[in-house]
Amino acid sequence: KAPKAVATHAGPGGETHQTAGNDTPVMTTQQGLAISDDQNTLRAGARGPALMEDFHFREKIFHFDHERIPERVVHARGYGAHGYFELTDSLADVCKADLFGEVGVRTPAFVRFSTVAGNKGSADMVRDVRGFAVKLYTSQGNWDLVGNNIPVFFIQDAIKFPDFVHAAKQEPDRDFPQAQTAHDNFWDFVSLSPEATHMVCWAMSDRAIPRSFRFMEGFGVHTFRLINAEGQSTYVKFHWKPKLGLQSVVWNEALKINGADPDFHRRDLWQAIKTGNFPEWELGVQLFDDGFADSFDFDILDPTKLIPEELVPVRRVGRLVLDRMPDNFFAETEQVAFCTQNIIPGIDFTNDPLLQGRNFSYLDTQTKRLGGPNFTHIPINAPKCPFANFQQDGHMAMHNPKGRANYEPNSWSQPAAGPRETPAGYTSYPEPESGPKLRQRSDTFADHYSQARQFYISQTPVEQTHMRDAFVFELSKVETPAIRARMLSHLLHVDTALAEGVASGLGLSPLPEPARAARPVLVGLPP
Ligand code: HEM
Repeated sequence: KAPKAVATHAGPGGETHQTAGNDTPVMTTQQGLAISDDQNTLRAGARGPALMEDFHFREKIFHFDHERIPERVVHARGYGAHGYFELTDSLADVCKADLFGEVGVRTPAFVRFSTVAGNKGSADMVRDVRGFAVKLYTSQGNWDLVGNNIPVFFIQDAIKFPDFVHAAKQEPDRDFPQAQTAHDNFWDFVSLSPEATHMVCWAMSDRAIPRSFRFMEGFGVHTFRLINAEGQSTYVKFHWKPKLGLQSVVWNEALKINGADPDFHRRDLWQAIKTGNFPEWELGVQLFDDGFADSFDFDILDPTKLIPEELVPVRRVGRLVLDRMPDNFFAETEQVAFCTQNIIPGIDFTNDPLLQGRNFSYLDTQTKRLGGPNFTHIPINAPKCPFANFQQDGHMAMHNPKGRANYEPNSWSQPAAGPRETPAGYTSYPEPESGPKLRQRSDTFADHYSQARQFYISQTPVEQTHMRDAFVFELSKVETPAIRARMLSHLLHVDTALAEGVASGLGLSPLPEPARAARPVLVGLPP
């Protein structure tokens, strides 16, 4: 639609001044004062100095000077959209959460897709893991499923996360590369952390260069618990399955696309939603009990392992539809704060040591990134169900307690007394815990290669070639021969042909000794 004609007049320098009137609102200062001229500062004489008295200029520049907030320490580059989750198959037998009770119930959702390593202004089509973070505004509070497009992770313990992220991002002396895994520090760290081998294979696969966000799977990664009305627990892995199927680009396409349009993924999502082609995912769950967990070859608490779908099929229980772009990128996509500890009755954590660390990290970092303890007052982060508590004050407080009481228990009657507890509120699953206090990793986490091998041999020959070529390309950028050789010592446990192919591509001969494996490597896929 062509904009309506606006009344204009020329200023002293010939500049165009557009005037409010009819349906055009009046521009004001933050204090509501109508502005007569937004293009010339107040000065002493036409060629004289600017006057300090010019409160309009000072307010405008002050606000501009403060526009930036810190970008996310990881997943800085992202793109979000609104939508809803609709239940298609009730999970009421295993989960008491309202959103999983009645078929047809719709829950508003906000989703942010992201790359992990690159800065906010980096390119979309890099080889990287993609974030797939979903905020569900349920009737019982916000539930955030903060996942990735790959079902496993690089490390087993959150204490390694700062080192992993430092090694993956720019090297500190040169501040490059901005968004590539192709550098010594990344490969140094992962080759010194054998637990990363499985995820590194996924990162070198076609999964790490998705065609668009609409063709990506999502995974909650960790094992969580579902809790039913009787208080019984069932383990669960969460999956998002794209209705359009899974598609990637090949590396040469990725390079060209990045050069031609670094915004390729965000433009794709924007255009799809704006033209009514709403992307859709099915929510899948893998459900299992302690019996399965005990019989499984790997530890269900180990985030570098998945549960093969051959062993526990994925049950599809709902659909996620994205049908509305944010009105404002900063207000919504940039200020949204996902947090693994945002859960609701019917869902609980397990002792996965990565998940336990994440539960601390998100709130902590967001308090800094979003400027204090009140970022849940920002509309995109606020629950859409009633909420009330006695938290008060702090920077940017929008919801202070009303009336006399700002503590409990108290002797006042309503409405002054304020909110009270309810026995129906959230309770944690009473898992019995005991044991000596130790800094130790369970030896049930020690097989780092079997699932990497399963992943490699589950790929088609073409996909295997892409993986080999990706290893060759990325490792060829590594300048330190010992790091290349160390990485190959791990690949020798994954697949001999893969390791030999990578070595030959790198001109590395003879092959190094295989890395010392803490656990014997299981052979082949389960029957
Ligand atoms: C951000 C996923 C591990 C700390 C994110 C985001 C996603 C994500 C999707 C972006 C959220 C957004 O769009 O705003 C994951 C997954 C992990 C993982 C799937 C492993 C399974 C960790 C660990 C830590 C961590 C172990 C720290 C102990 C952070 C931080 C942010 C972040 C600090 C930035 C949050 C913000 O500034 O809003 N993560 N992450 N993550 N993650 Fe993780």
